[in-house]
Amino acid sequence: MRVDPAVALRGGLAVPGDKSISHRALLLGALAEGESEVRGFGASEDTLATADALRALGVDVEITGDTARVTGAGLRGLRPPVGPIDCRNAGTLMRLLAGVLAGQDGRFRLVGDESLSRRPLERVAAPLREMGATIETTDGHAPLILESGPLRPIRYELPVASAQVKSAVLLAGLFAKSGPTVVVESLPTRDHTERLLEAAGTRLGRKPGEAAVWPVERLRPLSLDVPGDFSSAAPFVAAATLLAGSELRLHGVGVNPTRIGFLGVLERMGARVSLFNRRTMGGEPVADLAVAHAELVATEVLASEIPRLVDELPLVALVAGMARGETVVRGAGELRLKESDRLETLKNVLRPLGVRVSTKGDELRVRGVPTRPRGGGTVDAAGDHRMAVLAAIAGLVSREGVEVSGAESVAVSFPDFFPVLDSVALR
Ligand code: S3P
Repeated sequence: MRVDPAVALRGGLAVPGDKSISHRALLLGALAEGESEVRGFGASEDTLATADALRALGVDVEITGDTARVTGAGLRGLRPPVGPIDCRNAGTLMRLLAGVLAGQDGRFRLVGDESLSRRPLERVAAPLREMGATIETTDGHAPLILESGPLRPIRYELPVASAQVKSAVLLAGLFAKSGPTVVVESLPTRDHTERLLEAAGTRLGRKPGEAAVWPVERLRPLSLDVPGDFSSAAPFVAAATLLAGSELRLHGVGVNPTRIGFLGVLERMGARVSLFNRRTMGGEPVADLAVAHAELVATEVLASEIPRLVDELPLVALVAGMARGETVVRGAGELRLKESDRLETLKNVLRPLGVRVSTKGDELRVRGVPTRPRGGGTVDAAGDHRMAVLAAIAGLVSREGVEVSGAESVAVSFPDFFPVLDSVALR
C-alpha cells in the first residue's frame, strides 16, 4: 500500500468502537443470562476472533453492522468444542478467555497464529493455577490446555503491569468458591473489565491499586454503547499535530484516564488537543477531540506512564522524531512482547524514513528534528497492525511518502483505517 504525503488533516471523523471493551462485552455477554446488545461494537479481525471463539463454545453471537447481540449461555454454560479454539492474533482474547474457561467444565485447548504463539502466557497461567485450574502451556506459550478445578480466591500482586492478566484473574474470581479475589497493581492499567463487571451486576471492590471481585450466581445481560477506541484515534491525533494547517475533530472517543497517557505526553510536548462535550457512555468517559497543528519539543516519558500509553508508544517515537530535542522513553520493555517486538519493529519502520531512533534494553531515544522526515522506499510492518498504522502515519507526514508492506494488518484493529485516513487527508 502506497501512502503519499498529506498537506494537512482537515474535517471530522469517528473511529470504531473500543477493541478492549468490545472483546470484554462479548465475553461477559456470553456468561450472562439473557440477550446482551452491544452497540458501537468495534468489528475487527481481533474482536471477530472473539465472536468465533464464543460460537465454538456454543454461544450465539450475531453481528450486524456495528451492533453485536449475544445470547448468554449462563455463567457455567460454555461447552468445550471438539477441536481447538483459535484465538488468531488476539492476545486479549487468549488471556481473558483463559480466565473465563477456568470456571467452565471440561478441557479446552487454545491456539493462536504465529505471532500470538510467541507471546508470553505464563503470566496468566501462573495465577490461574494458583486458583486451582490445571494449565499446560507450550514452553510458556500457546497452545494452552486448560482444565478447571474448584477455584479458590487469591490475592494476586501483578508482577507486570498488564490489564490482560488482571482481567483474567478477576474473571476467574467470578467462579471461585468464595470471595474476594483481589488483584493488586502498582501501576494502574486499563480498567474496562472492572467497569463492565459492575455493569453486569457483580460485587466489585475498588480502591487505588486494587480491584476485588466476589463470586456471583448469575450475570445480567449488557445493554451497552461502546465509545470510540482511543488507540485508533491516536494516530490521527499524532498526524494532525504534526501537519501544519491541520484542524481535526474526532467524535465520541473514549477518554478513560487509564488509556489516554498519550495526550498527557503530547501536551507536555506542546500539542494542541482539546477535549469537549464530555459525557459518559456505557460506564466509560467519552469526549470529542479537537486537534490543531503545533510545534513540539522533546520530553521524557517515565516508566510509570507506560501502561496508560502502551499501545501508543510507537506514535510517541514518531512525534518525538519531529520535536525539537531528544526524547527518552524509559521502561518500555513490554513493547517487546506485543504482536511483534515493537521496539525493534518501530526502528525498522522509522529509521529508513529518516527518524533518528535508537533503543537500549527497555529504553527508547529519539533525536528530533522539527521538519518532515525524508520518507521514500518500502517499510515492512512485520504483520503487526499498530506498526502498519505507524508506517502509514509516518509516510503521511514525510516528504516522499512510503510504501507499506503488510498494510492489510490494520484490519486486526481498524479495518477502515485507510478510507478514514483518505477522508480527512488534504493532498
Ligand atoms: C489490552 C491490554 C494491553 C494492550 C492490549 C489490549 C486489553 O495489554 O497492550 O492491546 O484489552 O486488556 P497488556 O495488558 O498485556 O499490557
